[in-house]
Amino acid sequence: MNSIPTVAATPETIVDGSRFVRACLRQPVDRPPVWFLRQAGRYMQEYRDIRKHHTLVEICKQPEIAAEVTITAAEKLGVDAAIIFADLLLPLEPMGLDFEFQAGEGPVVHHPVRTADDVKALRTDRAADLAYVAKAIEKVAAHFRDKLGIIGFCGAPFTLASYMIEGGGSRNYLYTKQMMYNDPSSWTMLLDKIVDVLTAYCRLQVEAGADVIQIFDSWVGALGLTDYREYAFAASQRLVKNVQEMGVPVIYFGVETAGLLAEMASTGADVIGLDWRQPLSEGWNAVGHNHAVQGNLDPITLFAPLDVLEKRVHEILRSANGRPGHIFNLGHGIIPGTPVENVQAVVRMVRDFRL
Ligand code: CP3
Repeated sequence: MNSIPTVAATPETIVDGSRFVRACLRQPVDRPPVWFLRQAGRYMQEYRDIRKHHTLVEICKQPEIAAEVTITAAEKLGVDAAIIFADLLLPLEPMGLDFEFQAGEGPVVHHPVRTADDVKALRTDRAADLAYVAKAIEKVAAHFRDKLGIIGFCGAPFTLASYMIEGGGSRNYLYTKQMMYNDPSSWTMLLDKIVDVLTAYCRLQVEAGADVIQIFDSWVGALGLTDYREYAFAASQRLVKNVQEMGVPVIYFGVETAGLLAEMASTGADVIGLDWRQPLSEGWNAVGHNHAVQGNLDPITLFAPLDVLEKRVHEILRSANGRPGHIFNLGHGIIPGTPVENVQAVVRMVRDFRL
């Protein structure tokens, strides 16, 4: 996509809902749009109240509730975009893998994918089972109309494969890397199958009203540059292209990716997510100014006093220097215990900032 910014921004053309999508396309906007990774979640009382009566997966599978969680968080914060409430791991189920979220432990996949036969057994023909996510998006889209940007999402092939192979979170990605190095044909088949399912899943989301798709490659920073090129890039690039052909911009996000940014950008993704470990302008230089960037406040800064928080927010905005194509966000998700009023304060700081 990467359309060249040509349309001049006048106050009339910037309805609130277009600010986010325009920034993804590097078109001029009146101010940078702002939203937060994990903006709906346990740090919010409203979410904790719903979680008393439903598991995470139950919330995801009931479009009425998933839509309510999505809408409540976006409205409470006053952000420019709403990310659909869902989870990265939902596509595992139609592929034939059972998983659950164990309290304090994160996700657990009961029979991880370790052998060629495990990969062969994975199904790719049931993405339509994920229609509950599309239904939730339809409800969110009907609620907001063009007032907010609506973000659909999925995992990136590497990150999703790592959950399937490790069976949960991991420190060293030992089984994942063993499959990459020792059984490259199974690894390739696994990523191909994941891309097929995620393409169909993203299509459901776009047809339901998602304006933008974010691809979460949260754990790709575990790879060195050569391994990223050899084992992860092609599948990510294929997914990015498949989604862009649906007519929506793609945000490609990862953590600890300072050494991978140029390569991630060459997937062709419209927007690259930056973590907080380098100044935004350095990250943007590495990405290239023919892409938009999203980021990059350290989520733990939300626990700092407001004057410190404001310094960090302003530093990021100054680093972006008003260039079209900056979406203000965190470098990774909001964690439980984060003071909601500080998240709201960041929205105000971004709105009120003038260079
Ligand atoms: O508001 C939003 O941002 C949308 C909601 C959302 C969730 N998961 C809900 C959720 C999104 C975008 C995700 C994506 C996701 N899921 C990622 C990529 C984002 C990232 O942080 O890099 C990953 C790696 C997952 C997998 C996952 N889901 C893990 C590792 C965990 C456990 C984390 C923990 O703190 O327990 C989850 C659970 C999860 N997904 C929660 C939420 C709100 C918290 C669990 C709960 O409510 O019990």
